[in-house]
Amino acid sequence: MTAGPVIPVLVIDDAATARPLAEALVRGGIRTLEVTLRTPAALDAIREMKKVDGAIVGAGTVVNPGQFQDAVDAGAEFIVSPGLTEKLAAPILESGVPFLPGIANAGDIMRGLDLGLTHFKFFPAEASGGLKALKALAAPFYQARFCPTGGITLASAPEWLAFDPVLCVGGSWLATGTMAEVEAKARAAAELKR
Ligand code: 3PG
Repeated sequence: MTAGPVIPVLVIDDAATARPLAEALVRGGIRTLEVTLRTPAALDAIREMKKVDGAIVGAGTVVNPGQFQDAVDAGAEFIVSPGLTEKLAAPILESGVPFLPGIANAGDIMRGLDLGLTHFKFFPAEASGGLKALKALAAPFYQARFCPTGGITLASAPEWLAFDPVLCVGGSWLATGTMAEVEAKARAAAELKR
């Protein structure tokens, strides 16, 4: 979460596109790459992206322990999930692999704190009430830090990043277009100030 201001959320349909995509993002200055386990190509995509110098490759949309194991076997260095269940959290915490689970309300955050977690993905960020909702939610939880994801754009990111408990934002907007366009979008994202 502190390696850069934006974590791109990547949905890869063809593993052959993974390495050039990761190279374009890293060239632009975005190193932390979340590959969502939403496509059959995702695990191969993680393996391909791991070949790129400087890339920190993790798995997203991890919703059960089996997917966690598959992701780690493919080389994932961190795990992101849309929500938080103890069934998923237990093996991840046991392994020591960095884990960013999704939260959307106070009960979710309290469950995370009970498990020893303090860093959360606020998801789906805009649909859950946006920055106003996160500010209200963060107030009682001074120790919590967030990566809002869902509906965030290059234009809206600065407002989120200006809120102290937000360490980074996530989004899929960087990963569209030609590789030259991806690189340019990564460069603009990497220049965002926290
Ligand atoms: C997702 O689940 O796809 C992420 O939250 C990304 O959302 P976005 O496409 O709105 O950036």
